[in-house]
Amino acid sequence: MDLYEHQARDLFEAGGVPVLRGVVARTPAEARAAAEALGGGTVVVKAQVKTGGRGKAGGVKLAHSPAEAADRAADILGLDIKGHRVRAVMVAEGADIAEEYYFSLLLDRANRRYLALCSRSGGMDIEALAAEHPDQLIRHPIDPRVGLDAAAAAAIVAETGFAPEDRAEIARVLTLLGTVYADADATLVEVNPLVKTTDGRIIALDGKVSLDENAGFRHPEWAALRDVSTENPLEVRARARGLNYVKLDGQIGIIGNGAGLVMSTLDVVAYAGEDLPGTPRPANFLDIGGGASSRVMADGLDIILSDPQVSVVLVNVFGGITACSEVAKGIREALKQLGNRATKPIVVRLDGNAVAVGLAILEEYDHPLVRLEKTMDGAARAVAELASAAMGGN
Ligand SMILES: Nc1ncnc2c1ncn2[C@@H]1O[C@H](COP(=O)(O)OP(=O)(O)OP(=O)(O)O)[C@@H](O)[C@H]1O
Ligand SMILES: [Mg+2]
Repeated sequence: MDLYEHQARDLFEAGGVPVLRGVVARTPAEARAAAEALGGGTVVVKAQVKTGGRGKAGGVKLAHSPAEAADRAADILGLDIKGHRVRAVMVAEGADIAEEYYFSLLLDRANRRYLALCSRSGGMDIEALAAEHPDQLIRHPIDPRVGLDAAAAAAIVAETGFAPEDRAEIARVLTLLGTVYADADATLVEVNPLVKTTDGRIIALDGKVSLDENAGFRHPEWAALRDVSTENPLEVRARARGLNYVKLDGQIGIIGNGAGLVMSTLDVVAYAGEDLPGTPRPANFLDIGGGASSRVMADGLDIILSDPQVSVVLVNVFGGITACSEVAKGIREALKQLGNRATKPIVVRLDGNAVAVGLAILEEYDHPLVRLEKTMDGAARAVAELASAAMGGN
C-alpha cells in the first residue's frame, strides 16, 4: 500500500524526523483556512496523489498569502496527474531552501537486503539522475538484521560527500528514517528532496512511503490509512473476503489455486487469445490458495462474475491440498445463489486431489453454463474463443 505524502509526513513526524507543518485541504476555502492556521505567511500547496512528478505537472505551487493559497488550491484540485485525479492538497509551511538532497531506503529483494540510495543532487527525477549521473547517486546495502544504524548512516553521509559540518545532523535524520522504515514494515521510504534550509536545518520536505501488505496483520492502524475511494471496488470487496485478487483489463475471468498456477494460466490464456478477433485477455488474477473451501470458491466466482468486463470464466485448479470436490461444490453453490443472474459461461479444468469426485459433482449438476475441459491448453483455447465471440468476433 502506498501512502499519500501527508500520511508519510505524519509517519515521519511520529518517528521524530524533522518535517514542516502541513494541513490537508479538500476545497479552496479549506486551503485558505489552512494557510491562516500556518501563520498566514508563505506556504506551498501540494497535490496529494499517489504518483511522482507532481511538481512538473503543476501540482506543487507556492502561495504568499491565504488568499493566494485558496487560488492555488483551486488550480490544483481536480487536476489529472498521470491518471490520478487530485481530490486533496496539502498546504505546507514554506521552507527557505539552501540545498536539496535525495535519500531513499528500499527493499532489495534480489539481494535479500535493504538498499539505501543517497545523493547531494536532490529534488529532481531520480531515474534521470541515476541514468545521466550514476556517480552522483551512491548505493549502500543495509543488512536487514541490523537496519540503518548510526554506523551505516555515518558511512552513507561520508560516501555521498556531504559537507563535514552537515554530516552529523544528516546521519541522525537518516537513522530516524531507517527506524521509521523498520517500524512501519515499509518496502520504501523516499525523501526527495531532503533539504538543508538557509538557517542550516535538515528537513524532509517530501515523503513517499510504501508499506508491505504482508505485514498488515500486525498493523491494525493501517485501516485508517486506506483510501478505498481510489481503489478498484472489486479489489476492495475481494480483500474484505480475504481473497487474493487483482483486477486486470481483459474479458476472461480467471480462478486458480496457487500463485504460480494462476500466473501461468494468465500467460496461457493471453497466448490463446493473441490471434483471435478482439484479442481477448485475462480480466483478473485470483488465487484461492491451498486448501480452499467451497465457500472461498463461491466467493471468488461471485467477485469475478460481478465484473461487467468479464464475458467468460476459467476455473483452473490442480488439487494438491485443495480438493477438487470442494472446488466443484463452490461452483455449484455460486451458481445456485446467482440463479438466473448467472449468464456467463464457466469453463472448468480440474485435476489432482479428488478430481473424480469433483467432476462427478459437476456432471451430475449438469448446469448449462458449465463446460468441462480436460487440459489447461484446451480450457484456455475454449475461454479465448468464447470471449472472442462475445466481443463480436467469430
Ligand atoms: N514546503 C516547501 N517549501 C518550499 N519549497 C518546497 C516545499 N515543498 C516542496 N518544495 C519545492 O518543490 C519541489 C517539488 O516538491 P516535491 O518534491 O514535494 O514534489 P515533486 O518532486 O514534484 O513530486 P514527487 O516527489 O511526487 O515527484 C521541491 O523539490 C522543492 O524545491
Ligand atoms: Mg519530490
